[in-house]
Amino acid sequence: MLELGQFPLFSLLILPVLLIVLFSDQIFYHKKPSPSQSSSSHLPKSYPIIGSFFALHKHRDHLLTWVSDILRASPTSTFILHKPLGNRIILTANPANVEHILKTQFPNYTKGRGHCTTLEGLLGHGIFNVDGDEWKFQRQIASHEFNTKSLRKFIENVVDMELSDRLIPILSDSAKNCAVLDLQDILKRFATDNICKVAFGYDPAWLSPSLPGAQFAASFEEAVQICSQRLRANFPFVWKIERFLNIGSERNFRKAVSVVRECARTLVGHKKKELQENPCLPESNLDLLSRFLRAGHIDEQFVTDIVISFILAGRDTTSVALTWFFWLLSKNPIVEDKILKEIRKNNKDSESEHSSFEEARHMAYTHASLCESMR
Ligand code: HEM
Repeated sequence: MLELGQFPLFSLLILPVLLIVLFSDQIFYHKKPSPSQSSSSHLPKSYPIIGSFFALHKHRDHLLTWVSDILRASPTSTFILHKPLGNRIILTANPANVEHILKTQFPNYTKGRGHCTTLEGLLGHGIFNVDGDEWKFQRQIASHEFNTKSLRKFIENVVDMELSDRLIPILSDSAKNCAVLDLQDILKRFATDNICKVAFGYDPAWLSPSLPGAQFAASFEEAVQICSQRLRANFPFVWKIERFLNIGSERNFRKAVSVVRECARTLVGHKKKELQENPCLPESNLDLLSRFLRAGHIDEQFVTDIVISFILAGRDTTSVALTWFFWLLSKNPIVEDKILKEIRKNNKDSESEHSSFEEARHMAYTHASLCESMR
């Protein structure tokens, strides 16, 4: 059931960061081959004008595995991948390079106009699609909110409800009836419901026993998929022509984005009204959108862009991390056993059947297993 060959848009955005985690030798615990041992046969050849088009085309359905192989084979854990028509992508799993790019010389490594134009339709001027002062401003307001106790409490309540009212009953029923579940799909629904409630205060109720379709969630998914195709395109002028002519996947993109944005605009309108009518709502009941509005960021376009970026940030990351976690558990029954023991020990003294967020914080082994699977 796992679509391991595809990787979501967010993975493309954070690929350098993920790769350092995947490949740094300090964490990998086995000796890295010396330059002489590294096999250059894994490195794609590049030709004038077309670059590494043939290799890119051949590996298009398993890019992540292919890129991982390239980085393993490169003596510097860094490689310049030549796309057709002179476009280049720098891949790195070298911790020193990642530190240089993301920390020491961060202002020199902007996302750039090309990247921003590609994602603008969906992300607008949200945090994942802006540079410089615009990025800094959004980063500051996001950091401030995420450090408040009240937002943590709000998130805890949302996740708790989604777990006990939806995820656990569906899993229990399935276990009772020995039914087969597509866990990747279930976890995507789980993550989407959670992040929409946290970001907008809107419940798509995508994780319901009948596993229904939901217009907002499905349109968001489609828009993300098409952005991902755009980023991977070997000849970006093709999608730009399609966009101009409003045909093919670009036509679908336009429709999907208009559903997402229309829904977002309606929600912003409702929220503004709700806040005006109830100015004294306690902080711990407020989603991110309400917090931004209450802090005086009332421009509709601005708050919509911020919140759409948050949905992207929290949806695929969480569901993919959990999917990999359970897949790895299924391959490592000893770890599964230890986690179950820790949960049972923890729950012995607890009144509730499920662990609370506070109790989960003390489960060192489970925490380490989650970190390990993300690594
Ligand atoms: C397992 C889950 C997650 C993983 C693996 C993950 C991973 C990451 C990584 C690697 C970055 C750095 C990206 C970069 O510097 O370009 C990042 C940034 C960020 N993430 Fe997450 N994330 C997760 C969940 C979430 C959730 C649930 C939210 C919010 C609801 C979130 C919001 C953000 C934001 C706002 C940024 C900052 C973007 C920026 O400064 O440009 N993430 N995340």
